[in-house]
Amino acid sequence: MAPRKIIIDTDPGQDDAVAILLALASPEEIEVLGVTAVAGNVPLPLTERNARIVCELAGKTGTKVFAGCDAPLTRKLVTAEHVHGKTGLDGPQMADPTMPLQDQHAVEFIIDTLRAEQSGTVTLCPLGPLTNIASAFERAPDIVEKVQEIVLMGGAYFEVGNITPAAEFNIYVDPEAAKIVFASGVPIVVMPLDLTHKALTTRARVDAFRAMGTQVGDMVAAWTDFFERFDKEKYGSEGAPLHDPCVIAYLIRPELFSGRHINVEIETGSELTLGMTVADWWRVTDRPANAMFMGDMDAGGFFDLLAERLARL
Ligand code: BDR
Ligand code: CA
Repeated sequence: MAPRKIIIDTDPGQDDAVAILLALASPEEIEVLGVTAVAGNVPLPLTERNARIVCELAGKTGTKVFAGCDAPLTRKLVTAEHVHGKTGLDGPQMADPTMPLQDQHAVEFIIDTLRAEQSGTVTLCPLGPLTNIASAFERAPDIVEKVQEIVLMGGAYFEVGNITPAAEFNIYVDPEAAKIVFASGVPIVVMPLDLTHKALTTRARVDAFRAMGTQVGDMVAAWTDFFERFDKEKYGSEGAPLHDPCVIAYLIRPELFSGRHINVEIETGSELTLGMTVADWWRVTDRPANAMFMGDMDAGGFFDLLAERLARL
């Protein structure tokens, strides 16, 4: 089977970085048409820089990286340096990237790519706030029906919020964008906190990355070491959740994940619950299902896949 064509829309972030590495290490299953950066964990100049650092680290300097929206559709940007550090990729020392940033705006790249490729053959993989994707849909409504699928990290139901008591970070930062995407009619697969909080690093799993004896293995171990301090303190968990790599792992081994096809609506009105993903997990409304909302995963299989693929780089 031909590899699946994807666009990774991202705000790296250590877990975004691991997701990008996993995709670039998996050419049999995945063809990365481009990496589009968005403001999120840190401001745009850092997320686009970080995206290039990660592609270089993977040795894939031919990957096209684009800068997109530097602020949510209507709101002020909220960032997460408290989790990811000042640069977004805090932990190990890293040199500035030398590979170029593409001139084209990320939103234009998304539009042009969906128009140029055969309908139903491009999957969008958002790992950050949904500003770039919603902007593309608003600017070029003709592309919406051409998207094969959106597989995204965002939202929560049972775990509720990580940035507010009610909301997950990616959705909270740009709820209006999320609303547009969830109402678009495109088939959506959601990796919420309910699932990603099961993708936890452990000492043994981090040691396995380090034991690869490669630059990639060392970097991933150092990133997770840095990133895990936050979740350990907050949740008392053993390690850090590798949220965003769940999106890419799903494309490679969907059988590792299970969930329910349900209705998910985005709260944009209430100050108290802004950005909440109101997921009808128990199917108590007759609102039509618009998303496959994942709830469980084979974490062992996921980390085996990560270790196997990252060792290739
Ligand atoms: C999401 O927010 C970011 O901090 C992570 O990169 C992930 O995409 C988790 O809520
Ligand atoms: Ca992210």
